[in-house]
Amino acid sequence: SCHSQPYRSSYHFQPPKNWMNDPNGPMYYEGFYHLFYQYNPGGAVWGNLTWGHAVSTDLIHWRDLEPALKPDEWYDNGGVWSGSVTICPDGSPLILYTGVADDLEQSQNLAVPEDLADPLLRKWVKSRENPILRHPVGIDKEDFRDPTTAWQVNDGTWRILVGAKMGRDGMALLYKSEDLRHWELDENVLHTVPGSGMWECLDFFPIAPFGREGLDTSVNGPHVKHVLKASMYDDQHDHYAVGTYNLSTESFTPINHALDIQHGLHYDYGKFYASKSFYDPVKKRRIVWGWSNESDSAAQDIARGWASLQAIPRVLWLDTALGDSLIQAPIEEVDDLRVGKVSKTDVDLEAGSVIKIEGSSGGQVVLLDIEVIFEYPNVSNVIVQDYGFLNGPFDCGNGGSAQRGVYGPFGLLVLTDDAYQEQTAVFFYIAQDANQRWVTHFCSDQSRSSLLHDIDTTAFWSDVRVLPTENFLSLRVLVDHSIVESFVQGGRMAITSRVYPKEAVDEKAHVFLFNNSTTQITVRSINVWQMRSITVLPLA
Ligand code: FRU
Repeated sequence: SCHSQPYRSSYHFQPPKNWMNDPNGPMYYEGFYHLFYQYNPGGAVWGNLTWGHAVSTDLIHWRDLEPALKPDEWYDNGGVWSGSVTICPDGSPLILYTGVADDLEQSQNLAVPEDLADPLLRKWVKSRENPILRHPVGIDKEDFRDPTTAWQVNDGTWRILVGAKMGRDGMALLYKSEDLRHWELDENVLHTVPGSGMWECLDFFPIAPFGREGLDTSVNGPHVKHVLKASMYDDQHDHYAVGTYNLSTESFTPINHALDIQHGLHYDYGKFYASKSFYDPVKKRRIVWGWSNESDSAAQDIARGWASLQAIPRVLWLDTALGDSLIQAPIEEVDDLRVGKVSKTDVDLEAGSVIKIEGSSGGQVVLLDIEVIFEYPNVSNVIVQDYGFLNGPFDCGNGGSAQRGVYGPFGLLVLTDDAYQEQTAVFFYIAQDANQRWVTHFCSDQSRSSLLHDIDTTAFWSDVRVLPTENFLSLRVLVDHSIVESFVQGGRMAITSRVYPKEAVDEKAHVFLFNNSTTQITVRSINVWQMRSITVLPLA
């Protein structure tokens, strides 16, 4: 490639160089969106953590500033770790973060802006009362971190959660305060799941019963539901449940899906971790940021000089058709980046066919926004006994897009060269489960995404709930150099992949529709937009 940096993102946030992990304390203040992030100023691997800081007026164009918090006190010399921002009733923001001492003790700490008149909030002051929270009896000093945004309850007192584990049981410790500065452990934990391991980066927020409007973090009432999200260290996925928050018992109860490491819901079934949401008062929406780690080696990261992206910010609202899960959609600001558009309707995809989307080549085909709608195939006219191909549960990792079933795989190839040497396949696969019920699966298959070595190309997949009234399957895919984010069935599920094509770059990258199933599939419509290029501006 003619680029020395073919994998750096264009419209996804990343700092100009070095290592980044979790998004921290996202907020809106006096005309600017702020994003803090776990940042190593010293290199492209995890370590020396500070709070990197960037500002934007539209969540797309960013200016990177100097780190807001650095390790310089006995209680955070080992690292300024993750945390959250709370907007106080007087409008001023307050940071709660985890400090790691030299002896690895994790404690919770407080910082406030030095000058509220500076809308960029470039300087932050740590409280003299730090650490304000030490690990409680029964919790190891290394299992106590990532305070949430505080919320206020009816009697005016405040609450936060801190992630912890006791033995093998992950839990959300609940703290109470009258002044946001002095906190007391409640005798109840808000929620715990036996055997789930350490819970990191908890997030807890209200969600409206209908519509897409977000709610500010302290909103509560009889019709409001709550979302509890735990980043589970053991499987590196963000698990969540929609449920009810009972103020009298100070507990959270999931509606249907337990916050279970094996069976619960994920925000994303790929590379998306340690997410953090905030309420955007400008557009009245709940937005979540998530960290998308690399899937190549540390040596490759060091050679490039950077590691990690933030996934595109996503708006969250309740999936009212299901009532127990969320819809996620890229913020609408992404649409403003769309330029050249190629559209097709009513495309017949014969069994075993691949169709190039002409016009989507040349220029920036590594920057795309794609929307496809497939007709849901008529699965009912298939006789169950015809299925020899399905032995045991569906496994996308076993052959990926090269499998051949009756109703799958079909979908898209992105970042694919004309010889198909490199291809990232995102696709549907409808198969029967052990009870002979048709289940729709979605896969993001990296197994043939790159000719390079030392890359983890494990395929990601999950099932997608499709309602009886939905006679279609929808897919939206954002492509930005090394990230491919898929939003399925209107945002009911999502999968993010990181890929590193060597050949399928620049004008050699194309988009194809494919159908490797043995049945014809109909594409109702496909729109492919190329995206304008954006660069994060360095420190002014
Ligand atoms: C999650 C996490 C947090 C911690 C931070 C340290 O990725 O492990 O629990 O605060 O990263 O960088």
